[in-house]
Amino acid sequence: MKGKILVIEDDMEMCNMLSVGLNRRGYTVSTFTSGQEGLAAAQSQLTDVVLADIHLPDKNGLEICSSIATNQPDIPVVIMTAFGSMDTAIAAIRAGAYDFVTKPLDLDILALSLDRAVRFRNLQDTVKKLRDAVKHPQSFDNLVGESPVMEELFSKLSRISDSEASLLITGESGSGKELTAKAVHIHSRRKQQSMTTINCAAMPSQLLESELFGHEKGAFTDAKIHRKGLFLEADGGTLFLDEVGEIPMELQPKLLRALEERVVRPLGGATERTFDVRIVAATNRDLESAVEDGHFREDLYYRLNVINIEMPPLRSRGADILLLAGKFIQHFSAKQNKSITGISNASAEKLLEYSWPGNVRELRNAIEHAVALTQFEKIVPDDLPEKIRLFRNNYILLGAEDPMELISMEEMERRYIMHVLKRTGGNRTLTARILQVNRKTLYRKLQLYEAQ
Ligand SMILES: Nc1ncnc2c1ncn2[C@@H]1O[C@H](COP(=O)(O)OP(=O)(O)OP(=O)(O)O)[C@@H](O)[C@H]1O
Ligand SMILES: [Mg+2]
Repeated sequence: MKGKILVIEDDMEMCNMLSVGLNRRGYTVSTFTSGQEGLAAAQSQLTDVVLADIHLPDKNGLEICSSIATNQPDIPVVIMTAFGSMDTAIAAIRAGAYDFVTKPLDLDILALSLDRAVRFRNLQDTVKKLRDAVKHPQSFDNLVGESPVMEELFSKLSRISDSEASLLITGESGSGKELTAKAVHIHSRRKQQSMTTINCAAMPSQLLESELFGHEKGAFTDAKIHRKGLFLEADGGTLFLDEVGEIPMELQPKLLRALEERVVRPLGGATERTFDVRIVAATNRDLESAVEDGHFREDLYYRLNVINIEMPPLRSRGADILLLAGKFIQHFSAKQNKSITGISNASAEKLLEYSWPGNVRELRNAIEHAVALTQFEKIVPDDLPEKIRLFRNNYILLGAEDPMELISMEEMERRYIMHVLKRTGGNRTLTARILQVNRKTLYRKLQLYEAQ
């Protein structure tokens, strides 16, 4: 697809000719016969270029130019004028038009102008992104974080938000997958439309099927009314498939087909309907293993995972833990009418030591709990949930019963190295000898932990 052209032209025949001609050249075209309708559509639907006639029954092309130049300066307008009326063409450019073409139209010349306009449009987007990135290097919408892993994530998010490709967000429970999906939508060109969310784990298979694909009245016993289905309802926007790993095996072929062909046929319906939706999916399941075990179709996995975002676990975000804690203290302290200003050093240490299996959600809950409990201006360790307060970072939890307490190889290595370093009084040479690694390796690893 080369771009979305919104045509405003009162002559129906001309509209048809443009629709067919530009479709054939790879554009998506929508046509409107009045200025009012056209302007409203430019506000509400994805548009790369507006192509407007200079003479319209309700508004003239110059008004269209200035309205778009004021409200949506990123959308270029190409004006169609009568042959020989140079003055009108100049007036259109002055009113903010990007280019003009003369009637009778030569479609090749028009296509050249539209190509240039689409390129201009894409460039505007890139410039805006870069400007935003310079302005807010350390956050992406509501996602808080300053650690290197989060900065890397923000930069990736700003690069991929605009893409139309399917996005799969993976990561541990509570790590911010849903918040990230929302942020991506808000930064995408579909932001004027809404993001529709469905939790694929929350309902039985048949209900999920009719939620997603819709049904005709009477398609099955409980189908009392016609239902459009979320793919069609989300048209023009984003559809967020949360916990996509839980989609029942029997629904997977249908979902795959919808994603591949961009059409759905409601249950009991005779015709297929097309939709224009960006798919964002999330899961905390290890989908690759689910594929290996035969619980998730491989082809569907690849279709969803065109772009992958892996949310870093909170324990790898270093001082972000304190940054987030600060935000949550402000939030809950205001909500509970308290005047808590921060946390004590000893509590900060506890928060930094803990392994956060429930990630940001667990931190948020812990702070809510502490704010409610504390009698001081600063949160003290006693205010923290027992699990955090009593957590012993130096213990390598090989014997843990609770699977949430078990840790990764990387984390085990980190803790063991820190343990040996502490026991040797910080002597790196001795530490390296005990660990039987060379000092360079030890330094590299320590540097890595410090950066986290
Ligand atoms: N980087 C962040 N900055 C601020 N708040 C965050 C951040 N990440 C997550 N949160 C908050 O933490 C909570 C959990 O986030 P979210 O629901 O997005 O996680 P999730 O990965 O979808 O969880 P689950 O796997 O349980 O579905 C929410 O209250 C969210 O607002
Ligand atoms: Mg979630």
